[in-house]
Amino acid sequence: MPRSLTRIESVIQTVRARIGARVDGPGSRLPSVRAQAAAMGVSVSTVVEAYERLAAEGLISARAGSGFYVSGPTAPLALAEMEPRLDRAVNPLWVSRQSLETPAGHLKPGCGWMPSDWLYHDGVRRGLRRLARADASQLVDYAGPLGLPPLRQLLQRRSAALGIDAPMEQILLTESGTHAVDLLCRFLLKPGDCVLVDDPSYFNYHALLKAHQVQAIGVPYTHSGPDLEAFAQAVQAHTPRLYITNSGLHNPTGAVLSASTAHRLLGLAERNELIIVEDDIFADFELQPAPRLAALDGLSRVIHVGSFSKTLSASARCGGARGAALALSGRTPAPFAVEPWYPTVIPTANTDRAAE
Ligand SMILES: Cc1ncc(COP(=O)(O)O)c(C=O)c1O
Repeated sequence: MPRSLTRIESVIQTVRARIGARVDGPGSRLPSVRAQAAAMGVSVSTVVEAYERLAAEGLISARAGSGFYVSGPTAPLALAEMEPRLDRAVNPLWVSRQSLETPAGHLKPGCGWMPSDWLYHDGVRRGLRRLARADASQLVDYAGPLGLPPLRQLLQRRSAALGIDAPMEQILLTESGTHAVDLLCRFLLKPGDCVLVDDPSYFNYHALLKAHQVQAIGVPYTHSGPDLEAFAQAVQAHTPRLYITNSGLHNPTGAVLSASTAHRLLGLAERNELIIVEDDIFADFELQPAPRLAALDGLSRVIHVGSFSKTLSASARCGGARGAALALSGRTPAPFAVEPWYPTVIPTANTDRAAE
């Protein structure tokens, strides 16, 4: 029979479980020693000892006169190891549909969209009024294949702020981030190819790859990027054509790519002729920009994808792709870009909304 926990171990386990389940995230203050003792029916000295052991491990840290705080960053949840284990086959297309059809008010893990009232309604309305007054040709005519030049210029400036030096002719507007990834899949893959994705990753990649009849291979994602050993093994075993990932804020783990992982990852990609799609849709939410694969690689084998769905409007359907990898494929970009219908209200980082 397993030995029962001591009181100190029970406190440790409780704190650990809260941190593991993200109830207490990095920087959160733990209950005071007295409050924890009262809540668990143990003595103050038991809690002091438990907190000190957790502090010695580095999981929490003491701040003089203020209490104990959760240290960061927390390792991403290893979803594959979590209970309950569900072995039933899950259809990724069904999962994707559920994300849009589930009624409001239900939790939608992995979707990564903001509550509507956090978004900039006034700016959207103003943009629409301005668009309604635009020249008729802007409302009804076909646009150029790469999309509206002023918006592409804006994307160029915003890319430069992330260290991505993208010439205008490599900036393509799309209907959304999803549309950009879908076009890239159409362009670069054929049925039966293998594509590496992070495990866990944004669920829609699985649906998209299934629709393209290619095989998605999961590589475990750590707190600083993909597990490079597993990545190298997957490259050897499957000779993938593409790797799709999020460097800035990773969906769904929130992890951030480290410079050393980025460097080694690009080396692997180079040696194995792998093209990387860096879906950077959460870029505007970063306080400190993380390393971008597209910046480090100079857009040589990385295609950088963005969208305004998370910061401006998901119904506007406006995104874009930057990258030279289209040229790597030996083909020229197809004329598939769509003019965004909604180019006049662009949020910049930290919600500076003056760009109307
Ligand atoms: C990583 C990631 N990429 C793309 C999307 C979808 O973006 P869009 O609305 O531009 O297609 C999401 C939405 O949750 C996402 O989390």
